[in-house]
Formats: sequence, structure tokens, C-alpha cells
Amino acid sequence: MENIDQPYRKNPLLRLSYNLIAPLYDILISRPLLDARIQSLRAMPSDVAGKVLLSGVGTGLDLPLLPAIHRYTALDFNAAMLARAIRRSEHLRNSGKIKEVDWVLGDSMALPFADAQFDHVVLHLILAVVPQPVQCLSEAARVLKPGGTILVLDKFLHPHQPALLRRALNPLSRRLATRLDVVFEEVLSGVPQLQVSSDVPLLAGGWFRSIVLRNR
Ligand SMILES: C[S@@+](CC[C@H](N)C(=O)[O-])C[C@H]1O[C@@H](n2cnc3c(N)ncnc32)[C@H](O)[C@@H]1O
Repeated sequence: MENIDQPYRKNPLLRLSYNLIAPLYDILISRPLLDARIQSLRAMPSDVAGKVLLSGVGTGLDLPLLPAIHRYTALDFNAAMLARAIRRSEHLRNSGKIKEVDWVLGDSMALPFADAQFDHVVLHLILAVVPQPVQCLSEAARVLKPGGTILVLDKFLHPHQPALLRRALNPLSRRLATRLDVVFEEVLSGVPQLQVSSDVPLLAGGWFRSIVLRNR
């Protein structure tokens, strides 16, 4: 595993918190979001081999759903989450579903990669987790080749949506697990080179959305 020092400076508690979340994560998240993951990953081509970045890979719940043809780089800032993803990929390899994965301990808001390296970037449940989602999306766009795609799956408020309970819970939630107040349109306006190809409402009355972005 490549261990690049990309310190996560803005919210150190969040990284610690994912140590506690890691053992519970699959039990809580795997089943409810499976269909949404499948829907999002449909946008990933499976005919032409490319380089794919999984930014904030977590425990690797996407791995079994990914086309084996691509070369993957999986990054997370929490070693406990990453360790689970590595174990999952070993199981996949043992069961004959070989996936080439390079593992990186790093920060999604300061990606340790040169510009225009990847054909696709997967941002599943990371944009609404990091304290600076524009920085996270902007970094994904930077490492993406021209014409490449970003697959986003996350929970977003719509512009001017009151969502009083979610906003009230946000000060605590953002420190421990995830933000609840991220408005996708505001994030996108900070990264103008990206264009929306599709935007599909999914779970929880469209709170969760599957969004495909293309690098102009
Ligand atoms: C909600 S989980 C999503 C994991 C996975 N993408 C999924 O779809 O299940 C958020 C993940 O992002 C990681 N994470 C949070 N902030 C990060 C950052 N700044 N850089 C890299 N990883 C981060 C956490 O460690 C955690 O594994």
C-alpha cells in the first residue's frame, strides 16, 4: 500500500470517528444503499479499459459492483476503513473476480496525484462528508482527463430547502460522520469545468441523488 502523507487538517475528529464507524459501517450501510450504488455505477463503461479513482473508498462496498476491466486506485484517509476495503478486494481476487487496485492513504481534498490521470472518478458518500466539498470536487476534476466522468452518489439538499431538522443536527453530525447541509448546486458552481450529464433522485424522497458529471 502506498502511504502518502496527506494530513487531513480541517476536521481531525472526523478521521478518528471513522475508526469507531468502521466495524459497523457495512451492517448499517450495505443493504439500504445497494440499489443506489448499482444505479450510480451503471454510468461506468465496461467495454473500454480505463483508470478509475475511488475517492473516499471506505470499506469498499463498491468493489464487487465494479467492472473488472479497469485499473482502480482507492483512496481513504482512515486506515481502519481502508483495511476493510483491502480485505474485501482480497476475497474478490480469491473468488476469481480479479480487480487491480492500488491503495492510497490520503485526503480527498488534496489528492496526491498529477493532473488528468483518471478516466473516471467515483465520489460515493464523500462529497457530503468532507468539510470542504468544493475542494473535494475540484480535486476530482483536476485529476480527471478531459471528457472523463465523475460518478456522484450522495445526499444533498436542494437550493433554499429549509430541512430544519437536518440543519439542526448538522453541527454534531458533520464532526462525527457526515454533513447534512450540503447543497449540490452550490458545490457544482465552485467547479465550473464540470457539466451535469444526468441527475437522478433516489432514496429518501430524492435526498440521495445519483449524479454524473463530465469534464468539459
Ligand atoms: C460515508 S463513508 C463512504 C465510503 C464509501 N465511498 C461508500 O460508498 O460506502 C465516507 C468515507 O470517506 C472517508 N473520508 C472522509 N473524509 C475524507 C477525506 N478528507 N479524505 C479521504 N477520505 C475521507 C471516511 O474515512 C469514510 O471511509
